[in-house]
Amino acid sequence: MADWIAHAGQPLQGRIRVPGDKSISHRAIMLAAIADGTSRIEGFLEGEDTRATARIFAQLGVRIEAPSGGKRIVHGVGMEGLQASGDALDCGNSGTAMRLLAGLLAGQSFASTLVGDESLSRRPMRRVTDPLRRMGAAIDTEPDGTPPLKMRPAPSLTGIDYASPVASAQVKSAVLLAGLYASGVTSVREPHPTRDYTERMMQAFGIDIDFAPGHARLIGGQRLRATDVQVPGDFSSAAFAIVAATLVPGSALVIEDVGIDPRRTGLLEALRAMGADIRVEALRTGPVGDIATLQVRHAPLHGIDVDAAWVPDMIDEFPVLFAAAACASGVTRVRGAAELRVKESDRIAAMANGLRALGIQVDETEDGADIIGGAALGGVVESLGDHRIAMAFAVLGQRAQGEVRIRDIDNVATSYPGFDVQARASGFGLVTPT
Ligand code: S3P
Repeated sequence: MADWIAHAGQPLQGRIRVPGDKSISHRAIMLAAIADGTSRIEGFLEGEDTRATARIFAQLGVRIEAPSGGKRIVHGVGMEGLQASGDALDCGNSGTAMRLLAGLLAGQSFASTLVGDESLSRRPMRRVTDPLRRMGAAIDTEPDGTPPLKMRPAPSLTGIDYASPVASAQVKSAVLLAGLYASGVTSVREPHPTRDYTERMMQAFGIDIDFAPGHARLIGGQRLRATDVQVPGDFSSAAFAIVAATLVPGSALVIEDVGIDPRRTGLLEALRAMGADIRVEALRTGPVGDIATLQVRHAPLHGIDVDAAWVPDMIDEFPVLFAAAACASGVTRVRGAAELRVKESDRIAAMANGLRALGIQVDETEDGADIIGGAALGGVVESLGDHRIAMAFAVLGQRAQGEVRIRDIDNVATSYPGFDVQARASGFGLVTPT
């Protein structure tokens, strides 16, 4: 288990590109695998999570070539072409892989078992097994609804009209993927709109799907047509550089080719409300949302009440928002974010404990926290094996008065391989102790 030591470095300068979008990379492999024909993916995230998805489809009989880093050629097997694997399908740390695969595999004529690492094995799966069972899927979980997911062959699936109790793109996507294999109409309504990548990408693969913010609907039995996918940079990875450049005096950093779909960029609204100087330039439109170059300059931040309506649009960015809030003047209040407790770690507790270890006052609530900005000292923080907690503390370390030792950083490779190398090249003080 490796650690990092983060400490104040240089102002962040230069131009960077962040690795490919994780959500889009997962979906590109999945949809290409069940399409007719060959799809080429460029900008694929070479992270542990998305590589796990690719490995699983290889186990299910899909030939996937990796001619070079970030490229995949997927030889689709068509809707009925997947084959049973004798071994369990290991989703590693990835909730997206497990939940979307649960939907995709629910309608297959063979059995599969989906397993994950220690963190994923604790995460709630009823949010997907409930609607999938209503469609006719046969899935067993542990008694408390956690993995492994044992999928038995389903006789047939029937479309449902599902009003999801959680604002979750994973839940919506699982139901829509099962809906491809179901008879009749499948529709999903959400309490708050979430990222619509599954809908847009299904459309790019030739599926006739109706969707609008908070709602999606398709008819089962359609076939997917292979298509090429260009994956933009992941906004959730860019978020660390955005906050670091905002926090470190003298910084001026350019981040190229970042996906800026509004369902992903709630952090920009929050940071701007706190006083950040972030410019969005060179906008172009891609099939899965707009792509931009971001220019970030240092700016002093002040605390805000984070609007609960922003929460789904910045669901993965709270660890780094907490780091920004720790350096802001005054109090930042987060509420309506209980979902953070069931991510790769309990992210409210993980950030609150780590911030307190560095001398920042945090008052935790069930669904959020009040972070009282102040001077971060040196100290030791636990990432709990959560990639985004580790990177958030690497960012905060740039403003700490001493060294911040971050324990257990190995899972950074799930979403952002090479984060430390890129961060150092941009000016971060970040070392891996031997
Ligand atoms: C994702 C959806 C979000 C997000 C996750 C990726 C996706 O999860 O946190 O990192 O690709 O659909 P929820 O759907 O659980 O909010």
